[in-house]
Amino acid sequence: MSIIRVDEIAKHVGQEVTVRGWVYNRTDKGKLVFLLVRDGTGFVQCVAFKGDLAPEVFDRVMRLPQESSVIITGAVREDKRAPGIPGGYEIGVKQIEIVQEAALDYPMALKDHGVDFALDNRHLWIRFPSQWAILRVRVRVMSAVREYLDSHGFFNLDTPILTPAAAEGTTTLFETEYFDEGKAYLAQTGQLYNEANIFAFGKVYCFGPTFRAEKSKTRRHLTEFWMLEPEIAFCDLDQLMEIEEGLITHIVQTVLRDCAAELKFLERDVTKLQAIIPPFPRMSYDDAAKYLIELYEKETDPERKELLKFEWGMDFGAPHEVELTKLHDKPLFVYGYPSAVKAFYMEPWPGRPEVCKSVDLLAPEGYGEICGGSERMSDYDKLLARIRQEGLPEEAFKWYLELRKYGSVPHSGFGMGVERVVAWLCGIEHIREAIPFPRTIKRVYP
Ligand code: 4AD
Ligand code: MG
Repeated sequence: MSIIRVDEIAKHVGQEVTVRGWVYNRTDKGKLVFLLVRDGTGFVQCVAFKGDLAPEVFDRVMRLPQESSVIITGAVREDKRAPGIPGGYEIGVKQIEIVQEAALDYPMALKDHGVDFALDNRHLWIRFPSQWAILRVRVRVMSAVREYLDSHGFFNLDTPILTPAAAEGTTTLFETEYFDEGKAYLAQTGQLYNEANIFAFGKVYCFGPTFRAEKSKTRRHLTEFWMLEPEIAFCDLDQLMEIEEGLITHIVQTVLRDCAAELKFLERDVTKLQAIIPPFPRMSYDDAAKYLIELYEKETDPERKELLKFEWGMDFGAPHEVELTKLHDKPLFVYGYPSAVKAFYMEPWPGRPEVCKSVDLLAPEGYGEICGGSERMSDYDKLLARIRQEGLPEEAFKWYLELRKYGSVPHSGFGMGVERVVAWLCGIEHIREAIPFPRTIKRVYP
């Protein structure tokens, strides 16, 4: 008997097949029992007819608890009404082997659960079709990233997670004792090591978990998240934006093509995603600030006015980003932020030292920042001065400074937050559902 994948069921209409999986739901209609079975690749309706099975088997099927593991054999038929993902097909059960009858006290029985309860039961919640669909999109986003970069001349070099110093600001570091060496910190970024790697490999990326002891409890922050970071030698800010545009477009179009069933289940408006093609609009921070100040001045509702408060020099808050994303149907590049709100390593704007060659990419529909990047300071003396000015431990950055001594070149890179991209593509509210086991300031379990 051939074991099939549910996501390929359309190819097997009229054939007798075997599906191995778990009973997600069961409904009885007299002589018929409908089992909604998930196998990891999809959800399919399996129909057991009393006349087709031995009485004792049918009796067990009628009482089968949710989440029981089963091996089912039967013929595939097309039926538009059949629920499932992709849906539209069902299997007439000829044989069923019950591998384990699940315990009856399954905590995630099919009813509405509060989000805290669901998160406490994340190990079970991931079996739900909504969570499964989101995480399938995540899987495809991650493979699309690698596909694109590997085929565009980038080398994937892993960067360390235990690091000797901060790169993105000292306030969000997780620290740990490191033998006789004093303190070590969980990486906030692989960027500094990427910068070393480009001088050996030209174009590189790292792709792994990053850690921020973020005090912020927003729907866009995790303490452990996955970041893709490409870094490119001989690359300026304009070229960087083109690379970002190409990558993001590839990710979106790949997910549209390969995760159609998942997006449909999530009721995502895919026309919004179909519009994501180059070029993406570009706006200077100065123009963005001007626009936001106008909005703020025009606002008459005092509560909203407080939220929209803005002046040149401030970093954008979520409400500001939301307003900017309303301007376009595509992701928006905002470039040239004030140096004071960005990291120490960014190249100053020529003739405007208070501004740096930074660029953030804001996803539409209110999602906001998905990528942050910049051209890097390539001059030894300027970088040293900046490190001193920020009060950073000079000794820890000795190797980083040396990169500016031996063959320095203009170079740029960016970081893309995987969970933020997945949340945008899936159209979900909170990024904690875009990672299998989320870590936030209030959660390290399960
Ligand atoms: O803007 P960030 O902090 O940039 C850097 O870390 C650079 N070193 C990257 C680089 O140039 N190589 O972070 C980059 C992206 C953000 O745009 C956001 O998508 C995501 O990482 N991100 C987070 N995602 C979830 N939770 C958090 N706490 C995040 N902080 C940043
Ligand atoms: Mg940022």
